Amino acid sequence: MRKTISLAGIAFLSATTVSAQERATNPDARANATLRAMSQEEKIRMLHGPMPSMLPPGKRLPGVAIGAGYVEGTQRLRVPNLVMTDASLGVSNLNDLRPGDVATALPSGLSLASTWNPDIARQGGAMIGGEARAKGFNVMLVGGVNLVRDPRGGRNFEYLGEDPLLAGTMVGSQISGVQSNRIIATIKHFALNDQETGRNIASVEMDEAAMRESDLLAFQIGIEKGDPASVMCAYNRVGGVFACENPFLLNDVLRRDWGYKGFVMSDWGAVHSSEAITKGLDQQNGENLDAKPYFSTLLVEALAGGRVPQVAVDTAVRRILRATYTTGVADHPLAPGQAIDYEANGAVALKAAEEGIVLLRNEGGVLPLAQTARSIVVIGGTADLGVLSGGGSSHVRPVGGFKKLGRAGRGAAITWVKRGYGGTPPLDGIRRAFPSAAVTYLDGKDVPAAAAAAKAAQVAIVIGEKFASEADDNVDISLGQGQDALIEAVSAANPKTVVVLQVGNPVAMPWRDKVPAILAAWYPGQRGGDAIAHVLSGKVNPSGHLPVTFPASEAQLPNPKLPGADAQLADKETRAVYGLAAGLKPFNIVYPEGSDVGYRWFDRKGLKPLFPFGHGLSYTSFRYSDLKVTGKGKLKVRFTVTNVGAMPGPDVPQVCVVRPGKAKRLIGWAKPMLAPGAAREVSIVADPRVLADFDAKTRRWVVRAGTYRIEVSHSATETALKADTQLSRQTLAP
Ligand code: BGC
Repeated sequence: MRKTISLAGIAFLSATTVSAQERATNPDARANATLRAMSQEEKIRMLHGPMPSMLPPGKRLPGVAIGAGYVEGTQRLRVPNLVMTDASLGVSNLNDLRPGDVATALPSGLSLASTWNPDIARQGGAMIGGEARAKGFNVMLVGGVNLVRDPRGGRNFEYLGEDPLLAGTMVGSQISGVQSNRIIATIKHFALNDQETGRNIASVEMDEAAMRESDLLAFQIGIEKGDPASVMCAYNRVGGVFACENPFLLNDVLRRDWGYKGFVMSDWGAVHSSEAITKGLDQQNGENLDAKPYFSTLLVEALAGGRVPQVAVDTAVRRILRATYTTGVADHPLAPGQAIDYEANGAVALKAAEEGIVLLRNEGGVLPLAQTARSIVVIGGTADLGVLSGGGSSHVRPVGGFKKLGRAGRGAAITWVKRGYGGTPPLDGIRRAFPSAAVTYLDGKDVPAAAAAAKAAQVAIVIGEKFASEADDNVDISLGQGQDALIEAVSAANPKTVVVLQVGNPVAMPWRDKVPAILAAWYPGQRGGDAIAHVLSGKVNPSGHLPVTFPASEAQLPNPKLPGADAQLADKETRAVYGLAAGLKPFNIVYPEGSDVGYRWFDRKGLKPLFPFGHGLSYTSFRYSDLKVTGKGKLKVRFTVTNVGAMPGPDVPQVCVVRPGKAKRLIGWAKPMLAPGAAREVSIVADPRVLADFDAKTRRWVVRAGTYRIEVSHSATETALKADTQLSRQTLAP
């Protein structure tokens, strides 16, 4: 006998009898059976957990690996402990929680998105998931897919760019790779946590259609493709309501419209009430960062006082149990301390970094550098030490440790905002790649000395860098630290100057037209120095393409001033989170671009960026021909890509749709690998949601009848082929 009960739009089964066979194959039936056997205390225990670093060692759950968090299970029912680690760029080890422990550091999210290659995302996810399991973790807080709306965002380096289709596709692959290790992945931060300034207090005010067509669509696609067992709700408010107790986001969109069956865990310190459990939140994590024990002591009181019904607790527990069955977490107990093949995993990080490097400019074919180069000077603060990584919870202590680990400037109040240099140093990589050249190094602090050394060398390579971190947005988009003047001086002294940027965001380049070659290497991870050298030498033909627009200046941005920047909230707010200050006033964040994020805004406003979304050069060149568009049923686009240069290499042709009076949108891409002279037909089937507008009144995606222009492009501003096609009206479920 089964009866369907419904809570907040969710239907679930209350099973009274479940056969052994059903229990083995049906995660819902299994979850129900376990739930029925649990005491109330055991249930409540599953709904909350601490951040162990904030507990004295004696108070931590014995025998579990120390990472971002844990939730205690029920051993008598084989309900596993959930042992959690951050995540997106590898198994993080913030503040050396596990002393001396290292992990393979993947390149940053923006580097991954620059590959436009879901296979790279999957391989990286599988690799870091394997390391997590070997170290004793079965939950990875991996899968950051907030859209890059502002190039000052402190966490953009963790995310996957400005386009919902690209970001959603990449995160889905990353998650499926992680979960292939029988661990739970957690897509985050749901939703619209697109800046750090005011992240715990600000409210994003956006109409529903704009949300659905942008940030929410990235999550929707990521969830469809990756099937993450968990979603992490964000710190901020949306429409005035905190994301972790937002019934619109958690119940209406995520569960009712998308049919999501996993569980929602809070971000660390993002819970504000016990009643959140009736509004879609299932688990309070990092509870010692919250003001109160909302999902433990206070939840018991709320149940007793009738403010929270028992069915809400049962629903949340059932969802968490189900996730442990669908992923295999319950059936594959952790066995920490397994050996890790760091050599093999480093090769995964190297391949990802090589594919993520974007060749932004290459005037006169300066790159690749000839093997006959006799003298190369490498200039830049830390090229001899390692590569830069971004700060915050994603911080991975790389294999080999950090060569230098400093506090961030502005974020100095936050002890965990660390500026770390590790992995292979660019200088070592360059020396290995050019064994017959004399390679010298200067830190660049003495600009005239750097210019003199550049003048004396055949080639000058400047490694520029800009730090970015969680909890601390950048103040502007300049490279900073006098590096613009250094680059100007070096490029004036040597016409063969190459600038390699290690950045977590787009930056301004007042010197762009004076420097013949520019590479964006992002934060390139464990083997970053080698990856940079391989692109410089031509061992690797660069194939990265920008997943974000590089604006010419802040004046081009929808918000020339970062929302909340006036109040200097980033620092104060972060202090508030950690109990150092209180009484900050909430403020609203309004994004004038709505769903036209990034290149769409530039297209709508007719603005010329410094470098457009999708841009990326190669050492060969590609030509597109034979465009064919069929519009019946699903829109299908076919065309031929030919390598018309002299080197083998992959290309990333991009397909956009342009509708009258609307900004262009990316509807697909391909990544064919082609030998010189080779041609291949590629075909792209458009996801109708990218062609559609969301109608919030009818809750439908609506593809309007009419003429659609299809463009095949090298970037958002460089179109090679065009064709018009007619589409008939179509509506789709949300
Ligand atoms: C971050 C999350 C992270 C969590 C646990 C929070 O500050 O926003 O992304 O997973 O901490 O470390």
